[in-house]
Amino acid sequence: MYVDILREASKRIYENVKDLAGTKDAAGDFGIGAGGDISRNIDIVAEKTVLDYFKEIGFRCIVLGEECGEVRLSDNPEGFVIMDAIDGSANAVRGLPVFCSSLAFATGDKLSLVTDGVVTDLVNGKMYWASKNKGAFFDGKKIMVSTDESIYRMVGVNTSGAAIDLMRKLQPVFENNNHVRHFGANALEMAWFARGLLDVFIDWRGKIRVQDIAAGYIIAKEAGGILCDDNWKPLDADLSYKTRISFIAAANRKMLDDVRKQIGQSQQ
Ligand code: IPD
Ligand code: CA
Repeated sequence: MYVDILREASKRIYENVKDLAGTKDAAGDFGIGAGGDISRNIDIVAEKTVLDYFKEIGFRCIVLGEECGEVRLSDNPEGFVIMDAIDGSANAVRGLPVFCSSLAFATGDKLSLVTDGVVTDLVNGKMYWASKNKGAFFDGKKIMVSTDESIYRMVGVNTSGAAIDLMRKLQPVFENNNHVRHFGANALEMAWFARGLLDVFIDWRGKIRVQDIAAGYIIAKEAGGILCDDNWKPLDADLSYKTRISFIAAANRKMLDDVRKQIGQSQQ
């Protein structure tokens, strides 16, 4: 099963980077990667771990890595592996304990064709995973998004590098939700959302890559989350390196409608 391959690869990433995060060695600069950011040593070590493992088991796939770009491991591939071997690289380099690996398998060149995803919290090695129509799991137990009964509504908003216009647009969200959070690792934040720790997660910056969210996408969906793009349509995208996305994940229709109204307020 694809999810088992992704889980084993993630386990190996954890083993290989757990003592590297937060050290001087983690930061080594390897130039600009395929995703457009500087590749750090920790990113390279993690990606190599996955590629070595896939070669070892003869996995016939095309890897779309955030740093390494497209790597065709077969002329007769079974599908794509969308790899962000370290999501939250800046946190990982600084040793801020919010970073993960994100591996997804897709049967074709679209986010909606993702069938399996694994997000591993690289601080403790605990795993979130999902396969299409089979549910989402954390640490061996089935997970679901939150219900309306939560005491505090937690809204994750990615504000990293947000321009003033975006902050104005999101201002009613900040004002109407007392508990707004930003942690710096989209894949892990989506996994937390799937586990019911965040009720809503918004990245409205138009700059997140598919690598950062492909595994979180299937985990959040399988946990019952609603995922929309910035036109409030079901989230989808091609897997191109040029593609950049805005999206919202909400635990239920009411929460989605609340945030939609809030974002709408500022646009009148
Ligand atoms: C980053 C994280 C972060 C988001 C950045 C991404 P990376 O991923 O997901 O939350 O704000 O836009 O680049 O670069 O650490 O894999
Ligand atoms: Ca990364």
